[in-house]
This record gives sequence, C-alpha cells and structure tokens, in this order.
Amino acid sequence: MCPAASTASPSTSSTSTMKPTPPLFLSLLVFLALGNLPLPSESRAFFVFGDSLVDSGNNNYLTTTARADSPPYGIDYPTHRPTGRFSNGLNMPDLISELLGAEPTLPYLSPELHGERLLVGANFASAGIGILNDTGLQFLNTIRIHKQLEYLEQYKQRVTSLIGPDRTERLVNGALVLITLGGNDFVNNYYLFPFSPRSREFSLPDFVDFIISEYKKILARLYVLGARRVLVTGTGPLGCVPAELARRSRTNGCDPELQRAGNLFNPRLWQTLKNLNAEIGTDVFVAANAFKMHMDFITNSRAYGFITSKIACCGQGPHNGIGFCTRASNLCPNRNAYAFWDAFHPSERANRIIVNHFMTGSAEYMNPMNLSTILAMDESE
Ligand SMILES: *[C@@H]1O[C@H](CO)[C@@H](O)[C@H](O)[C@H]1NC(C)=O
Ligand SMILES: *[C@@H]1O[C@H](CO)[C@@H](O)[C@H](O)[C@H]1NC(C)=O
Repeated sequence: MCPAASTASPSTSSTSTMKPTPPLFLSLLVFLALGNLPLPSESRAFFVFGDSLVDSGNNNYLTTTARADSPPYGIDYPTHRPTGRFSNGLNMPDLISELLGAEPTLPYLSPELHGERLLVGANFASAGIGILNDTGLQFLNTIRIHKQLEYLEQYKQRVTSLIGPDRTERLVNGALVLITLGGNDFVNNYYLFPFSPRSREFSLPDFVDFIISEYKKILARLYVLGARRVLVTGTGPLGCVPAELARRSRTNGCDPELQRAGNLFNPRLWQTLKNLNAEIGTDVFVAANAFKMHMDFITNSRAYGFITSKIACCGQGPHNGIGFCTRASNLCPNRNAYAFWDAFHPSERANRIIVNHFMTGSAEYMNPMNLSTILAMDESE
C-alpha cells in the first residue's frame, strides 16, 4: 500500500489545483513514521500523578503560588536553571526515568509534549494538591487529582489519534505509574492552622478513614483507565521536615502529632492496596514505604553522608524552615550534604536514596515487590 501515491493520483487530471497540500502530506508522513515505532513492550511509558514531590513543572503554566520556577531551584539541574521541580536538581520521576533508560517525562501542560514525545508518557502532577478537593486551596489554581485523571483520558485520546486505540491501550497497560499523594491533606489542610475546618469536622483517625476511602476511588479509577503497574508512595515523615521542626516542634525532634498522622495513614494505605490487588486478582498496586525510606536517613543522617537532616539547604529562620526558598534565602554550599533541599522537599541526593529503594528495596520498603522485580517479570512475559 502506498498512501502517498493514492493522494497524488487526482493530480493527473488537473495538476495545478489538486496538488496535495504540504501540511496534509507532512502529517501523513508523521503518521506513517509513528506507525513504525517500536511497540510499547520495547519502550515502557511512564506516568506520574500527585503533588510537589513529583511535579516536574506543570505549575509553571498555572496561576498559582505553589511554584519552583525561580533560582535557586534547579541550581544542580543539568541546565542549572529552575524548571518547576521542587529540588536542587533531579526529582524522583527523573531518577525513575533514568532507571528505565528513558527520557524524563514532560509536564502534561508543556507545549513541547506532542507527537512522538507523547509515547514516553507524561507527568500530570501539580504542587499543592492532595487527595481531597479542598486541600491546597490557598495555592489557587492547581491541577487537582480528579483533573489529573481527566488529563490521562485526554492524553489517551491524543495518543489514539497517533497510533490507534489498540496500541494506545497496550502502551498504557505496559506503562509504569507513580502516584504520590496525601502529605498535603495533613500539612496543607488538616494541620494548616489550629482548628482548621477539617480538624473540627474529624478526629485524626476519622480523617484518615475519610481520605483513605477517597484515595481508594482514585486508585480504582486509575485501574479502569488502564494502569497496571502502579507504585504508590505513602506519606513521608511529615513531622520531621524542616518546616514542621520550625513551626511545631518544641523538642527539636520530629513533631509527634504529624508523625502520628503518617503512622495512621500509611498502614491503612498498604491495607487498601492489598485489598484492591485481591479484588483485581493480580498485583497492580505496589506500596513504596517512603516513611521508612526517609526515617533511615533522618535518624542516622551521617551514615548516609549528610551533615544534617534538620536544616534545609535553602530557606530562612529556625532550621531554614520558615517561608519559601528564594534568591534572598540562606543557601548551603554543598547540596549533597543536606537531606532536605527546602523546608519540605528532599535534595536530589536524598531522592536518589529513595529511588534506589524503589528499585531494589526489600519487602519492608517495597511490597509486594520492588521495581527490579517488576521489570524482570514484564521482560519475561
Ligand atoms: C472532587 O471533585 C470531583 C470533580 O472534580 C468530584 O468528582 C469528586 O466527587 C469530589 N470529591 C469529593 C470528596 O467531594
Ligand atoms: C527485590 O525484592 C525481592 C523480593 O522482596 C528481593 O528478594 C530482592 O533482593 C530485591 N532486590 C532486587 C535487586 O531484586
């Protein structure tokens, strides 16, 4: 079959008026080229959902106060420029892409995300969001999780027009998915200020029940949309981040109330993933114990090569934990020596420790399996 010839054939009768226009011709070529791309089994796509821990720059395109698009963010990124990542350098999704041997996934709102680049996957995450719609409202315009899932549907339509419905479904089924949610529902909702509306409405255990039941719906929807390999991180040790050491802690240690929140939420989340896997009949959801991964280097930071986990590299006030990281902030000279880059987010080096656990962690870190097991299983299918 030769579509170029058949488009050209009417031109034999009236050469001047019926020439195929270059745009049509070009789009046919693009279509044919994409049709010959390797199948998704050879190049695994990667999708990212969640909050600032995994946002690679979507908020740059939005009117929001939750942004990381000015220096010194990105100071250790390959371009040494801010990108919207809440890190001095690479973030968790970048490091996972590195392990997959793939290009980093672009933010879904990036104008550069089109054509063949869509097949690498997409990052839908948006700083400030949570499980609940009323989490992070103070940041104004962000992409809440239900909208992130709508964008996945839109993404699938766009890819379908490139490679057809069957290959699109296979691409999504074969993809790795990362979702990081929940921290903001505590920090930027329940504990945002004393007597917040949610804390007057719910006791902490009841609030955890509520957000777990909402999270379960979100994960079930991801499955319906085609996700089959989903890494789910619980919340980190919220009480130990420099912001909370500065704001809440009276002992210079981790704040017990926020630690209690993580200790209630995470085991409930693991149980929910187990139940979902049992309902589906196969291990779609994998728990990544981010709490434990962080606690290792927080309790014993020197063993991990950090000089401190209690002071942010970039910030001001006690623990460098007050306000935003800006040009005017204190900035540490050696980012690799700090577990926390800013008041809430790990440094690139801490992200590397975490992602190495994703890859090779034992069952107490990754359950029921780590990423290297997933990759090996899918390889042999
Ligand atoms: C959050 O908003 C979405 C629509 O954007 C809605 O479907 C969902 O039910 C809402 N969740 C809650 C808990 O109200
Ligand atoms: C991955 O997880 C499995 C099962 O928990 C474990 O046996 C293995 O040592 C881990 N690491 C690697 C590199 O597979």
